[in-house]
Amino acid sequence: MALGLLVTAFVAFSLPPYLTFDPARSRVPIAMNSGAYYPMLVAHVVFGSVAIMAGCLQVWPWLRRRRPSLHRKVGTAYVFCGVLPAGALGLVVGIQSPFGPVLAASNVLLATVWLTVTTMGYRAVRARRMTEHRRWMIRSVVLTLSVITNRVWAVVWVLVLSPQLDTTFHGNEAAMVQAIAALSGWLGWVVPLLVAEWWLEGHRAAPGASEVQVGAS
Ligand code: HEM
Repeated sequence: MALGLLVTAFVAFSLPPYLTFDPARSRVPIAMNSGAYYPMLVAHVVFGSVAIMAGCLQVWPWLRRRRPSLHRKVGTAYVFCGVLPAGALGLVVGIQSPFGPVLAASNVLLATVWLTVTTMGYRAVRARRMTEHRRWMIRSVVLTLSVITNRVWAVVWVLVLSPQLDTTFHGNEAAMVQAIAALSGWLGWVVPLLVAEWWLEGHRAAPGASEVQVGAS
């Protein structure tokens, strides 16, 4: 319930400016003559919104247990109308990030890992390897939600680094903004992914446990 409310609030705040198709309302600076950058960003935000809302539904235990066919349909939308297009577009817009090369590197790696773990999860379910499917999809949804943890880190780093504008950054506001964006970008997905890996290690299936028992996802 709490995750549902958080995700709904995030989408309600993030998506509308991009549905106007007005680059002036973008929260990412759009350069003049930026070509296909803005349309790709809009498409990324739309598909990303599908991914985060579908991902949120997929981790709801009630839906998985009581409505397995809906779980399959929402899962298909998560992969094909969410992660795959949003990730591919995130990769392309991510390379050209206006927030500098350190965030661009994070964007490219995040998009690559997101696409990879989601594809692994999809392939596992097609092969009826349910335990593996569940583990890959936990990683995938954690990365999907990193768009929110990223913003939490941004608030932290604004509070920590703003007072250092004239000292650490010698008054260079652009350098400070890039540092905040880069720190938030990297920490936003690496920390949750490490926590997820640690959690998954502690919840490994006992040797010999059946796929159905453990993978009742
Ligand atoms: C997890 C993989 C993701 C990657 C690699 C990624 C990548 C990017 C990139 C490169 C940008 C342009 C800004 C920049 O250069 O940093 C961006 C912006 C944006 N992305 Fe994503 N994104 C991801 C997931 C998502 C998801 C799941 C959503 C859900 C709605 C989302 C929503 C947005 C929004 C709203 C913006 C515009 C910035 C804003 O208005 O706050 N992204 N993303």
